[in-house]
Amino acid sequence: MLASGSGTNLQALIEAPEVSSHIRVVVSDRPEAAALGKARDAGIETAVVPWSDHPDRASFSVALADLVEEAGAKGVVLAGFMRVLSADFVERFSGRILNIHPSLLPAFPGARAVEGALGHGVKVTGVTVHFVEEAVDTGPIVAQRAVEVLPDDTVDTLHRRIQVEEHRLYPRVVAAFVNGALTLEGRRVVWS
Ligand code: GRF
Repeated sequence: MLASGSGTNLQALIEAPEVSSHIRVVVSDRPEAAALGKARDAGIETAVVPWSDHPDRASFSVALADLVEEAGAKGVVLAGFMRVLSADFVERFSGRILNIHPSLLPAFPGARAVEGALGHGVKVTGVTVHFVEEAVDTGPIVAQRAVEVLPDDTVDTLHRRIQVEEHRLYPRVVAAFVNGALTLEGRRVVWS
């Protein structure tokens, strides 16, 4: 599990019994990430791979991939991880990396998805869970949930309602993933 921030999605995954026992390690690029505290409170192993300790994305990603593999993890779940992984990392865990994004992809990729949706005046946005490919916020879409944009919404109020949906959706998808009921064959998402 990789996380950079507050870790509310991580918390939802920790609270899902079908998921939590499968979490081998929670890794962050930021030692101060609140997500690490949530993992420690749940008795889950944590590690930090500081972004600033590495000269480039490639060496950062190698350190991260080595750590994930040494922990015995077979897949990688991104839960608010704010660094772009190298092509080599994605290749090494090909078809085994999931991400959650706060918009209905392919609309509003990138770090400012909620701002983007508000700025464009869309009436509906939402949540996307997808397998990770090299390019940011692309990759086969696994599941989506719509969230209505209200006339008085701010980035905060809208993001909060999006997160309610994230916390419902991600544990269900990740449970299927860790149980082998959700796989990627080529670019095809397969539920079994
Ligand atoms: C979520 O909105 C997720 O969609 C995005 O980053 C945010 C992480 O929030 N990738 P949290 O750290 O899980 O609270």
